Amino acid sequence: MSLEGKVAIVTGSGRGLGFAYAQELARRGAAVVVNDVDAETAAEAVASIEAAGGVAVAVVAPVGPTETAKQLVRTAVDTYGRLDILVTNAGVLRDTVLWKMSDDDFDTVIDVHLRGTFTCVREAAIHMREAGEGGRIICIGSPTGQRGNFGQTNYAAAKAGIVGMVRTWAMELKRAGITANAVIPVAATVMTATVPYFAAAVEADEQGEPMPDFFRHDLGFGTSDDVAGLVAYLASDAAVDVTGQAIGVGGDRMQLWSHPEPVATAFHEGGWSYEALEAGFAEAVGDLQSVGEEFPPLPEELQRPAPTR
Ligand SMILES: NC(=O)c1ccc[n+]([C@@H]2O[C@H](COP(=O)([O-])OP(=O)(O)OC[C@H]3O[C@@H](n4cnc5c(N)ncnc54)[C@H](O)[C@@H]3O)[C@@H](O)[C@H]2O)c1
Repeated sequence: MSLEGKVAIVTGSGRGLGFAYAQELARRGAAVVVNDVDAETAAEAVASIEAAGGVAVAVVAPVGPTETAKQLVRTAVDTYGRLDILVTNAGVLRDTVLWKMSDDDFDTVIDVHLRGTFTCVREAAIHMREAGEGGRIICIGSPTGQRGNFGQTNYAAAKAGIVGMVRTWAMELKRAGITANAVIPVAATVMTATVPYFAAAVEADEQGEPMPDFFRHDLGFGTSDDVAGLVAYLASDAAVDVTGQAIGVGGDRMQLWSHPEPVATAFHEGGWSYEALEAGFAEAVGDLQSVGEEFPPLPEELQRPAPTR
């Protein structure tokens, strides 16, 4: 098995995508520290992994504070003797437009996603560097972090920040043989269940039916299990040379995201004064960049009324 003898931590792995990652890592031979704030789902996740012949232990604690990060690494090392893989997946949403977003909405999302990723990766990196056997850091981003999204100021900041940190960590951890990558998933989970555009796909998934091709292929939207293969691959020895990347996956589609690069470069001798810009901005930059994700029109047979949940 490709991850035999390895030990992994997956944050927020009681349900949804995190559970799919934990299951897949365990199925490939890794012992897994399952983490969640919800004790019941964490226990169920561990029981399900064990029932399938895997090895797992639960840590019920909120990701964000340093103490939780320390507890996760300590549990991996005390229980299984080592730590090879960290997947920072725990997440919450507090969606609303900017002018209605409270300090608490902002701080909660930043705390779990951005600070939680920072504290967990810092703790794992300290341990992995000391152990001297390399490691795998896999952080979970989002299309919202890459492109922006209406109603998601807090989430866009956190997810863009995570990819920014991953670029930096790929540089800082290279010498220690630790790779750091971001996975940009899209899947039918509780998080996407209320988005009307995805309703037909979520409905199919809930009924155990295959998702329509339009979602899997054209949109790159599938099940949590569709994302788990990439996480397992990045966690494996086979991906030793893959670092500093942001890789999107969903349904049948995988995409390598670009890191921001200048798309237009222009020079003006003496510098770009207001007058120079007024006269030459449009010509100098060319086409402006678009923001947000554009979805193709939903075929009529896949249109559903907005779910009431
Ligand atoms: N579903 C998608 O299409 C999608 C798209 C892009 C990114 N993501 C990201 O993938 C990750 C998982 O999303 P999901 O759709 O499976 O969501 P989900 O809500 O189904 O699962 C998130 C899990 O994290 C747990 N959690 C919440 N706060 C926590 C904390 N402080 N500490 C530990 N656990 C905590 C929850 O209890 C839950 O079990 C998130 O980071 C999310 O932003 C999801």
